[in-house]
Amino acid sequence: MVERKTTATDVIDTLGLEPHVEGGYFRRTYQSDHRDMLTTAGGPRYLMTSIYYLLTEQSPVGQFHFNQSDILHFFHLGDAIEYSLILADGSLQTLVMGSDVLAGQHLQFHVPGGLWKASRLLHGSNGFGLISEAVSPGFDFADMEMGNRQKLTAQFPQHRILIEKLTRDDD
Ligand code: GUN
Repeated sequence: MVERKTTATDVIDTLGLEPHVEGGYFRRTYQSDHRDMLTTAGGPRYLMTSIYYLLTEQSPVGQFHFNQSDILHFFHLGDAIEYSLILADGSLQTLVMGSDVLAGQHLQFHVPGGLWKASRLLHGSNGFGLISEAVSPGFDFADMEMGNRQKLTAQFPQHRILIEKLTRDDD
C-alpha cells in the first residue's frame, strides 16, 4: 500500500483545530478544573491550561504577542518552527523547535511571562509544524496583548524588519 503523507488539513480536521487570533490553529486540550483557581493580579486563573498549536504554509506565522504567564512548548510533528523573543531590555533571542535534535533543534522550550514572542514555520517537506503549549497560570485573553506594528517598532526600532515580518499590517 502506498502511504499518503499527512497534510496540514488532516491535522486540523483530526485534532479539531480552529484559527487562532495570532495566526495558525489551536484547540484547548486541558484546563485544571479540578483544582482551586489561582489568584493573580489580573484575577482568578486556572493553575494550568494546555493547547495544541499548529502553523501551516497557509498560516505560517504566530504574530508577536505578549504573555503574562510562563509557557512550556513541546514539539510534536512536521517542519521546524523558529521562535523570536524580544526581552524587556530590547535584546532578541531566537530558537528553533523541531525533531532534529542532533542539529540543535529543541523538543521543549520554556518562555517566561513578560516578553514578546513570535513564531514562524520554516520551510520543510511537510507544510505544517505542530506543538503543544502548557500555560501557567492558565491562559486568559486578558493576560495577552497582540503586538501592534507601529507601537512595537517605536519601542524596538532595532528590530523593525523582524517586527514587520511578524506582525499584521493593521493600516
Ligand atoms: N495560547 C496559549 N494557550 C491558549 C489558550 O488556551 N487559548 C488561546 N486562545 N490561546 C492560547
